[in-house]
Amino acid sequence: MEKEIIERRQGEVLLRQSANQNSKKLFLESYGCQMNFSDSEIVASILQQEGYDTTNQLEEADLILLNTCSIREKAEQTVRKRLSQFNSLKKRNPKLTIGVLGCMAERLKTKFLDEEHLVDLVVGPDAYRDLPNLLQDTDDGRNAINVLLSKEETYADISPVRLGGNGVTAFVTITRGCDNMCTFCVVPFTRGRERSRDPHSILKECEELAKNNYKEITLLGQNIDSYLWYGGGPKKDFNKASELQKATAINFAKLLDLVASSNPKIRIRFSTSNPQDMSEDVLHIMAKHKNICKYIHLPVQSGSTTVLQRMNRQHTREEYIELVDKIRKIVPECAISHDMIAGFCGETEEEHKETLSLMEYANYDFGYMFSYSERPGTPAHKKMADDVPLETKKRRLAEIIELQQKLSLQRMKTYVGKSHEVLIEGTSKKREDQWYGRISQNAVVVFPKKDNTKIGDFVKVKAIQCTSATLIGEQE
Ligand code: SAH
Ligand code: F3S
Repeated sequence: MEKEIIERRQGEVLLRQSANQNSKKLFLESYGCQMNFSDSEIVASILQQEGYDTTNQLEEADLILLNTCSIREKAEQTVRKRLSQFNSLKKRNPKLTIGVLGCMAERLKTKFLDEEHLVDLVVGPDAYRDLPNLLQDTDDGRNAINVLLSKEETYADISPVRLGGNGVTAFVTITRGCDNMCTFCVVPFTRGRERSRDPHSILKECEELAKNNYKEITLLGQNIDSYLWYGGGPKKDFNKASELQKATAINFAKLLDLVASSNPKIRIRFSTSNPQDMSEDVLHIMAKHKNICKYIHLPVQSGSTTVLQRMNRQHTREEYIELVDKIRKIVPECAISHDMIAGFCGETEEEHKETLSLMEYANYDFGYMFSYSERPGTPAHKKMADDVPLETKKRRLAEIIELQQKLSLQRMKTYVGKSHEVLIEGTSKKREDQWYGRISQNAVVVFPKKDNTKIGDFVKVKAIQCTSATLIGEQE
């Protein structure tokens, strides 16, 4: 499962052999969503120009950076704990610079410098271009901070250094920020206004990836279907654009069509789709291109219209069901996954039951399920009581997870006995003699290695067995 991979990647250290043997060493660890992992590659690219090579040895680092996540309280606690482990390193090497990047940096700003004395550098997600200047300050012994959010920054011209990956699958960020203001969510505060990246730079990056033998590209955005290029600037200002800009604007369906047709040998995925912004056009483009994977991550958060209203999600249960029906009709083989929050403010037992019944209806392949964690400064924190008792949240979450496991197993069984195109991504974690890859619908499949196969090959695999999370197959 996709999030399982991300789960496994939490705290992953970026590492890359450098051809020019830079003298300074950077230890860069990432937490949170796919976009953070992608941003870390941009940071590494900027710092490479400044003479930094990556290392996975903490002891030899001149600079330690943590790219952090604020989405739930637990994510922040993980980072605080990690920071405390750097105390002894700093004592041994007072010249060591320790920096915090990403959403926690943006949320806590100067508080970070007050609360965590070993932190020298705090940089928000839109300020990575300023890192070279900020590092001059820290080199001179001063703390440095830049948490300005931008209405334009998309890092379009920075070619990310692909560090963490397998040389086969890559992320390409196409929108940044989010304007949706779901009441529980900290993202609009930590990542700012929604803006889209120039399609030329997106196509160029995809072309370079293809040249470098990448086989799968995942387009990334907090609300990807909302992509809209009209020459730059925030999405909210589109109505102020000129007639020409409006007439020549490129939306997500057009961009997806362009990316898929210019890279016919590359698998294309995208994430994350917000139900209210997903258009029928996108579904037709998915159906048209063989190389667009038949998988949509379609977070819903709750199956109850009244909870959705309190969450400020811009659709009802019925509208979501209509969208699921449309997907099933236009892209029949499509897998759908969800994000769900258990125990949001005021959630009644009846509302919770609606979540369970929606899950049954949607028949999800996968799910990423959380209990509600109140985030300071969000509209829910300001206006609503976090009043569902912890025990109830936990029980409801357990029921949601149990149901999803049942649904996942049912869906996986429908893939058994069939032949699938699989991209080999690596060796199975459990068995050295088995490959690991994914089918178009994003299900993980493991199968015995054959002599003439290698990472990056597309192979035909027949699924012969499954668990709720993995297909077990045989190459045909
Ligand atoms: N649009 C984003 C959503 C980011 S947050 C994307 O690209 O996926 C990912 C998921 O975390 C959300 O869909 C939601 O289910 C969950 N989440 C966000 N805020 C939360 C909170 N305060 N408590 C619990 N879960 C939360
Ligand atoms: Fe958060 Fe809602 Fe945007 S979940 S990232 S505010 S779509």
